[in-house]
Amino acid sequence: MRKKKLLIIEQCKTTTKEIEVKPSNNIFSELGNNNYNFIELISELIDNSISANIENKQLEIIIDIGISNNEKNSYLIIKDNGKGIKTVDLGRAISPAGFSGGTTLNEHGLGMKQAIASLGNLKYLVTKSNEVDKANYINKFEFGKLEVLEIEVPWESGTEICVENLKDLVPKSQQKITMVVVPYLSAKYRRFLNNGTSDVRIILNLLDIDELDNDGLPYLIQSWELKELKPIYFHPNQRNNKPIHLQKKFKGKGWEAKFTIGYAPTNEEYVELGMEPPKNYEPYNVSINKQGFDLIAHNRVINFTQFSELEFIKVPHHAYNYIRGEIDLVKGFKTSTTKNFVVRDKNFNELLAEINTFLETEKLLERKNDPTELPEHLLRDRLKHHLLTRKIEPKKDVKTEYVVEGLAGSIDILADKEAWEIKRGQASGLDVYQLFAYLDMGNIESGYLVAKSYTTGAETAVDFIKKNHSKEIILVPIDEFPINGPANSEERKKYFR
Ligand SMILES: Nc1ncnc2c1ncn2[C@@H]1O[C@H](COP(=O)(O)OP(=O)(O)O)[C@@H](O)[C@H]1O
Ligand SMILES: [Mg+2]
Repeated sequence: MRKKKLLIIEQCKTTTKEIEVKPSNNIFSELGNNNYNFIELISELIDNSISANIENKQLEIIIDIGISNNEKNSYLIIKDNGKGIKTVDLGRAISPAGFSGGTTLNEHGLGMKQAIASLGNLKYLVTKSNEVDKANYINKFEFGKLEVLEIEVPWESGTEICVENLKDLVPKSQQKITMVVVPYLSAKYRRFLNNGTSDVRIILNLLDIDELDNDGLPYLIQSWELKELKPIYFHPNQRNNKPIHLQKKFKGKGWEAKFTIGYAPTNEEYVELGMEPPKNYEPYNVSINKQGFDLIAHNRVINFTQFSELEFIKVPHHAYNYIRGEIDLVKGFKTSTTKNFVVRDKNFNELLAEINTFLETEKLLERKNDPTELPEHLLRDRLKHHLLTRKIEPKKDVKTEYVVEGLAGSIDILADKEAWEIKRGQASGLDVYQLFAYLDMGNIESGYLVAKSYTTGAETAVDFIKKNHSKEIILVPIDEFPINGPANSEERKKYFR
């Protein structure tokens, strides 16, 4: 095999000449060729508006989508009443990566240019800070000297961007906006929208520009105001809208994150909470492609419901449909230049490994069907019911808490002269011997020990008892019985206090 030697320039004989590297204006249209969807694109512009927030002033972001039979006339306007871009900063704001390396909602210095080029063609950008009288108006992005018109606007400060000749990815129907744009943006920016006196108002209007109203303005087809949309949890024991772990801190060298995990309510549990289950198009509807955790950075969702994507599981499976939560990336993480992906660097890999270990040691992924969270007497009564009603060899005479004379204790279930004991967790050799004591002193021939799992000592004890005492004890994993489901509200009332 031929190997290459590292070139060491100091060891070479050299002469010099120069080349010139010129910026190409093509970059402004090339930036539109990315893997963003509409939600992510418009979010770049919303991020910019939010970071231009003026303290103690309600930020208002209005997005107008104007549709026309003549597609070329269609437009999208996003207008905010934030700080605006100062004249001194305008050139740098337009230049790709002019403002970059930011660790806030402004990150790579590319978002606005990417979003505009992906949506259509820039018609204009008007921006005004409250330090000046007139707004700056530009109608193209270019390197070099750029003409700026100064115009009067009826607002104190803010930015208005208009894009025309909208591309296909821009939603142009009421249905698409209602079913995709509104729910996903409401979930994505939930932390900014969180109550009546919220920091940020985001309003979406769909307009028909072919039809004018009496004031000569385009006809308003529908208007939406975004309201906080957050995941709903159902705590299996407390039976309220709470996750199992809320904002548990994870920390490493140079990074910090908070992890929230819980379970979605079943439809029945939504009734118990007095809430409507989400519609199937909404982000937190229970389904196979909506399982997992939202990735959050700078208080808004970067990716929804990541689970197999983050390799916590290999392939999506229905068994995990109820798992939900948030991974809040507090410090030390980077997004890709399209802000819809967290860079898989050392910090992020460390975080994922730690969460994975946590999920495993706490058995959080199995928890929905974990009998250890159900009271033992509930399991016992469910098993009794099952033994009496099962199709194969149903039992006739079933008693619970059957007292064995002379031994201060009782058998969980005596069913047609068989003894049944239930353990929610792991059963050991001593548990087997306890059952043997019931069999021996109660004069019972055979017994069943139902448990989540068994130690090897338990199996050894079963063999020993059979050989030396001729009593049959059978170990049956609890999963073999249909008794492990979450408690319903009736059972909750009866068994949980
Ligand atoms: N709506 C806005 N209000 C105020 N400033 C803005 C607005 N949009 C963009 N800017 C300015 O333009 C810069 C470039 O924006 P952008 O291309 O999205 O990159 P980034 O947000 O990563 O810096 C921002 O850093 C910000 O200074
Ligand atoms: Mg930006």
